[in-house]
Amino acid sequence: MFMPGGISEGFVSVVNGRIVRIEKNLRRKVDSFLDFRKAGVVVLPGLIDMHVHLRDFTLAREESILTGTRAAARGGFAVVLDMPNTKPRLNSPSLLRRRDALARRRAVVDYGFYYGTPEKMKDLTETVPMLCVGFKIYMVEEFYTEKREMVDGVLRFASRKDMPVVVHAENPEFFGSKGHERPPEAEASAIGHIVEVASKHHSRLHITHLSSSLGLSEFWTKKKSLRGRVDLSTDTCPHYLLLTVKDLLKKGAVAKVYPPLRGDEDREVLLRGLRNGRIDAVTSDHAPHLIEEKQDMETASGGFPGLETTLPLLLTLVNKKKLRLGDIVRLCSVAPSKILRIPRVGEIREGNWGNFTVVDLRRDHRINPEEFESKAKYTPFEGMLVKGAPICTIVRGRPVFLDGEIVSKGGGKNVKTYGEVG
Ligand code: NCD
Ligand code: ZN
Repeated sequence: MFMPGGISEGFVSVVNGRIVRIEKNLRRKVDSFLDFRKAGVVVLPGLIDMHVHLRDFTLAREESILTGTRAAARGGFAVVLDMPNTKPRLNSPSLLRRRDALARRRAVVDYGFYYGTPEKMKDLTETVPMLCVGFKIYMVEEFYTEKREMVDGVLRFASRKDMPVVVHAENPEFFGSKGHERPPEAEASAIGHIVEVASKHHSRLHITHLSSSLGLSEFWTKKKSLRGRVDLSTDTCPHYLLLTVKDLLKKGAVAKVYPPLRGDEDREVLLRGLRNGRIDAVTSDHAPHLIEEKQDMETASGGFPGLETTLPLLLTLVNKKKLRLGDIVRLCSVAPSKILRIPRVGEIREGNWGNFTVVDLRRDHRINPEEFESKAKYTPFEGMLVKGAPICTIVRGRPVFLDGEIVSKGGGKNVKTYGEVG
């Protein structure tokens, strides 16, 4: 079991969803018992994916809250945070309430929402902090356009409510004529711009899916110069650590994603950034599309599913000694819980929610998208040999994924309820 002080053996008792006792020997009778005493198997605090697209509403043919959270369970994530670029967009209180009600009925793991930049200021109401962990800004569509004033409004409101703002940072001025030509300068420039604006509001700003060495150095330069005026954090994704533009040429449109895949040096710099703490978190950017939308490089949508590949890929990096198991816990559990202020998660500790991700570090397999729970049954990692896999996901004491099966029909909760007493 992975504890704040390191790996140790013991028994964890969960009552009403919360960890009540951690002890060396089990002395009481229990209702049910899961035994993970096996070489290579470690129980981690439940992992949190800060960046997923569960789609649904009118895009349910691509993914739904049900299939997306089943993919999360199979991938070892106890909590997922859903992006607002749904159709229709999640940027009005009525739609937010509707989505929360839908998720309450369908979600297999726990979930949270980001609110999208609204059309009108009057859509920034009290419902937003009640049901959302933060905001999401798409700079291409919202900052470098006539909507910039609304971005300013979001930053102001978010600061007032002490909520984080997650940003997709790319500046379209640097884009080439082809759809996928988006150089690192586009990322670096956008980071500079948004940090500048955010510093006026003393924001909590999170740059998501950081993809380039240039982006990271701009991020870090800004972070140092701000001296705390903006609470600045960032994440990157497995595809920026393991794939390059060469894979895009080889695999074609399935590997198309925004920001695009970069070069070998970027990969190395980002991996180093994860180890030395310059990058705070890892997300999947689970972005499922219909396979028909992933055919032609020019017209294909950006993104591919990631919930069921992220943890096996990270565990493979651990087996290759490029990351430590503790890095995964820090990047995928501790940091997301802190950045988004999700209470009582991130560590296996008495009083915390009983969320766990059980991994088998020795399990070898080949990535096979036909096995995905996600509706998107393709991946640029298809056929890759990986070592290490989630074998069980537990949400508030209830196993949702066990022995290769999804064993829950629902019961997911909005993490905004995590702080309530009980
Ligand atoms: C995302 C999606 O498909 O929703 N795609 C992607 O390439 N990352 C949207 C986005 O983040 O641009
Ligand atoms: Zn994005």
